[in-house]
Amino acid sequence: MGRRKKNKFLEDVKIVGLADKGRCVGKTESGEIVFLEGVAPGDVVDALVLRKRKGVQEGIVKEIKSYSEDRVEPICHHFGICGGCKWQHIKYEAQLQHKSNIVENAMRRIGKVEIGEFLPIVGADETSYYRNKLEFSFSNKRWLEAEELNDETISNEADVLGFHKPKTFDKIIDIDHCHLQGGMSNDLRDFVRDKGKGMGLKFMDIRKVEGYLRNMIIRTTTLGETMVILSLFEDDKKTREPLLDAIIEKFPSITSLNYAINPKRNDTLYDIDVVLYKGKPYIEEQLKETRYRISPKSFFQTNSLQAIKLFDTVVEFADLQGEENVYDLYTGTGSIACYLAKYCKQVVGIEEVEPAIVDAKINAEINDLENTIFYVGDVKDILTDDFAQKHGKPDVLITDPPRAGMHKKVVEMLLKLESPKIVYVSCNPGTQARDLNLLAGKYDVLKMQPVDMFPHTHHIENIALLQLRK
Ligand SMILES: C[S@@+](CC[C@H](N)C(=O)[O-])C[C@H]1O[C@@H](n2cnc3c(N)ncnc32)[C@H](O)[C@@H]1O
Repeated sequence: MGRRKKNKFLEDVKIVGLADKGRCVGKTESGEIVFLEGVAPGDVVDALVLRKRKGVQEGIVKEIKSYSEDRVEPICHHFGICGGCKWQHIKYEAQLQHKSNIVENAMRRIGKVEIGEFLPIVGADETSYYRNKLEFSFSNKRWLEAEELNDETISNEADVLGFHKPKTFDKIIDIDHCHLQGGMSNDLRDFVRDKGKGMGLKFMDIRKVEGYLRNMIIRTTTLGETMVILSLFEDDKKTREPLLDAIIEKFPSITSLNYAINPKRNDTLYDIDVVLYKGKPYIEEQLKETRYRISPKSFFQTNSLQAIKLFDTVVEFADLQGEENVYDLYTGTGSIACYLAKYCKQVVGIEEVEPAIVDAKINAEINDLENTIFYVGDVKDILTDDFAQKHGKPDVLITDPPRAGMHKKVVEMLLKLESPKIVYVSCNPGTQARDLNLLAGKYDVLKMQPVDMFPHTHHIENIALLQLRK
């Protein structure tokens, strides 16, 4: 039998930066690079290299030799186990600086474009309780922490309600307080878990795909409205109704109480009916003067307060004078389109999710907007020469694609359309930089504005203003 190779030991690794997925980059004196978790830029550690993938070393920390000045005490006792707020141990000002660096690095390494003005990142006023949507999962197995594994008095056979352990599909961390969502969120989650146990209901066995209580989505708005969607694995009115009645009795301020019967192997609800049990079939949110109706399956920016700053930057960059023809690609529920429609002649939105477009049309209606048009379909198929002829070429084009960025065909079409101005909103600086590079033949990047929508995470939103070169 061959002898197991010993893991490489790296001494005095200086943590020099933050990488993707909440990891940090460490560098030894001889220049060796290793990716580590649970550290902060400025720490000095000893580490063990566990694996090397595509030339990148990944390891674990053996000892922290000295702590960074940017460290703070994490506010959440689930920190380090739960994957939700991986940067909670880093000062917020330092988090912002790192996010700004992530954007600048992506633009330099991938985009290779000149940026006229790189504006200081816009931070969040609220770094806790900033999310308006959370999803909790039920499980009949509790995730055991390292120190609990050898304790025979502690069992993992327990009914829990919380978040998935990162990188696992079947391990749920029992959450007793989450600092991400305010309102009734924490009390409601604890109540539903206790009530489910008290009624003897089966919590999901995720591995075996059996059980009854599956997951629960809580959505809140700054107007004080709350939506709850309880997902159940089986259709059983006898247990469902007493549970839902108990929830509404305890939390009468829930404005939309819904359930879904989901017998599938996965938790997604897009192809499952969401049934209204009590209240309205939607909740409402307001960003400045614009009102939005959010139905159970529709997307809405998850940080409402920061969404105002994001949309205000889009309005500022678009600099509308009242007569412009605006395209809003990847419009979702028409959030940006409705926010700026009053400043221009017309907005044409495109989105591939049909229910989102239903909401976009309702959003236009409740805001008394008569100058919006919405289309359902893939942007790469809808945005054609005929489309541009029908609606007129855009004076300003706003694009807010998913993490993957824009399809190459869409970028080619943008080059053909020659909109004088493009405002590019992105949640992934890497793909945004790639697309800016492709647009660089005809466009200059005048300004760039990162906005932090997700404190304590590595996620960053970035807005670029592009001008057609004369
Ligand atoms: C980042 S969200 C932006 C939503 C919207 N701008 C907002 O602020 O609420 C991206 C949107 O693009 C949609 N989408 C993704 N791929 C698409 C495609 N190929 N064609 C059209 N829409 C797409 C998604 O459904 C989602 O609504």
